[in-house]
Amino acid sequence: MPFYHKLGQLPHKRHTQFRKPNGELYREELMGLEGFSSIQSILYHNFLPPRVKHTEDLGSRLPETVDFGPIRHRAFRTADAPLGTDPVAARIPLLANRDVILGVARASQSMDYFYRNAQAYETWWVHEGSGILKSQFGNLKFRKGDYIVIPFGTAWQMHIDGNDARFFTIENPSQIEPPKRYRNEFGQMLEHAPYSERDIRVPEKLETHTERGEFEVRIKVRDSLSKHVLDYHPFDVVGWDGYLYPWIFNIEDFEPITGRVHQPPPVHQTFQAHNFVVCSFVPRLFDYHPDSIPAPYNHSNVNSDEIIYYAEGDFMSRKGIDRCDISMHPYGLAHGPQPGMTEASIGKKETKELAVMVDTFYPLNLTGHALEYEKPEYMSTWLEGTGE
Ligand SMILES: [Fe+2]
Repeated sequence: MPFYHKLGQLPHKRHTQFRKPNGELYREELMGLEGFSSIQSILYHNFLPPRVKHTEDLGSRLPETVDFGPIRHRAFRTADAPLGTDPVAARIPLLANRDVILGVARASQSMDYFYRNAQAYETWWVHEGSGILKSQFGNLKFRKGDYIVIPFGTAWQMHIDGNDARFFTIENPSQIEPPKRYRNEFGQMLEHAPYSERDIRVPEKLETHTERGEFEVRIKVRDSLSKHVLDYHPFDVVGWDGYLYPWIFNIEDFEPITGRVHQPPPVHQTFQAHNFVVCSFVPRLFDYHPDSIPAPYNHSNVNSDEIIYYAEGDFMSRKGIDRCDISMHPYGLAHGPQPGMTEASIGKKETKELAVMVDTFYPLNLTGHALEYEKPEYMSTWLEGTGE
């Protein structure tokens, strides 16, 4: 995140002697992105970070993609995605390219191991359920509507309340951050931004574990998963400071930008990353020009595959879409409201829709799971009526 945060105990100066009550040194670790050139934090451990007792290869985690076939609009029904075990194990990749992997996860239990994605940021958008994200940076409670953003390199463990949590997941080998146009040259959010630093929740409670034993950490890197067994608890941090840590933004805190006439998708932008953006469609008042058409105009998103995860409410411009569906409007053809939807939107004062959109600048491929969930009738929802 573009602001500094710290928790726990720290020595006054970086890279100086910092000792435990028994006189031994704490072990300093710098965790930074892009070598030493981007955001970073310094952590102080009870144990030496490189200690690994046992390693095991758990195999490839590269999403297996299939032939796309002729270019067409597609939709996928994820409401009935199988209920899996813990959140990481339950995750099902649906769409992928070199910049991002999009998926869903329905989890029935908390993690009993630790996980670290060393090749990508992970964003878990909470559609249903609540719980706690525990990490070496401290604890973060999460609830419905939260974007949980976890930087590369963070060791974490998700605990869920109850036994059915539903997530839309975004995994990308770049940073997720507030759009640059929302920030000043110092990184501070500007007045025209649809949210501010107060809306960002940061780790609040640091739990320092010094117990010894056997602790399993699964590490994703080089598109594979490795299992490490440590002889110390991975949350052994006594203090840390910096800009790199997990954080949460709730979609309800996104203040919609509205106008007299239809506002374009960039007003919904929530985050940027390398070669894609994340947008939030939230309940809002509609356009107030006397002749306004609240439904969007047809648009050819040249250079952008548009993916929308529909969470709640009626989506004003869509037919054939249910809760938890994902639509895919790939670049190469125009899309817009289905027959009758434009007329139906006229005179409407507000929408209760809630959806998360990801626009990628390069085409996404489908996995076999996406084919399994596909609603093949979606493309023909534009064929009703005369087409005028
Ligand atoms: Fe669109």
